Amino acid sequence: MSDEPDINKAQYASKKGEVVLREHVYDGIQEYDQTLPNWWLFIFFGALLFFFGYWIAYYQFGWAKTDAERIDAAMAVISDAKAKALDEMLAKLTDDALVNDWATDPSRVAGGEAAYLMNCIACHGQDLAAKIDIGNGQSVALPGLPLTDGEWKYGGKPMDIFRIINAGTPADSPGHNGAKMEAWGLKLPPVQIAEITAFIISKNKQEFAK
Ligand code: HEC
Repeated sequence: MSDEPDINKAQYASKKGEVVLREHVYDGIQEYDQTLPNWWLFIFFGALLFFFGYWIAYYQFGWAKTDAERIDAAMAVISDAKAKALDEMLAKLTDDALVNDWATDPSRVAGGEAAYLMNCIACHGQDLAAKIDIGNGQSVALPGLPLTDGEWKYGGKPMDIFRIINAGTPADSPGHNGAKMEAWGLKLPPVQIAEITAFIISKNKQEFAK
């Protein structure tokens, strides 16, 4: 091409500030042919070194843990602690203890009532009857089962009640009108479930007196 500018042959700049261009011109565009600045090379080779160290530490020897692995490990510690707390509670809790110790202890019952009001009234009602008053003597059924009718679908012993609250509707049960109860043990500590059970017992005094 005749209108090609006069350009240096491929060579590196020998003087500071000197601009060196490649021989070719495409569509009037030319390319620099400089050594890259040191700061750029430093970042580039630094990134390669960092990658290598990272790859060794995370993927080859497992010296460093990824965030996901650290979360899994922390969750395992928590679920172990929860399982241990439940085992300890189950070891000391009996039908007799729930009725005669827990349900007669006003502070346990009050704790259970507070937890019940926080977590359970939406489906079992404030008075445990599983219905809500809408005026004119009419009421609407709530999704849960009544807890004061003397009927216990999953067993009427105090420990049965503790277990159904802790573990929720069993996997093989269709639930009540298709509604299943969640496993409250995933959200509440065993001591709180025992207190709620004590509160429910205290609302069914005659039934559990025998
Ligand atoms: C989202 C609604 C919902 C909430 C909230 C709820 N439950 Fe339930 N509960 C149900 C349903 C539905 C059933 C019936 C499950 C079945 O038939 O399998 C049930 C069943 C039960 C039973 C068994 C009753 C029986 O006759 O055997 C107990 C006890 C119980 N719930 C206690 C609780 C406690 C305590 C809480 C609060 C910590 C709670 N529930 C919160 C919906 C709920």
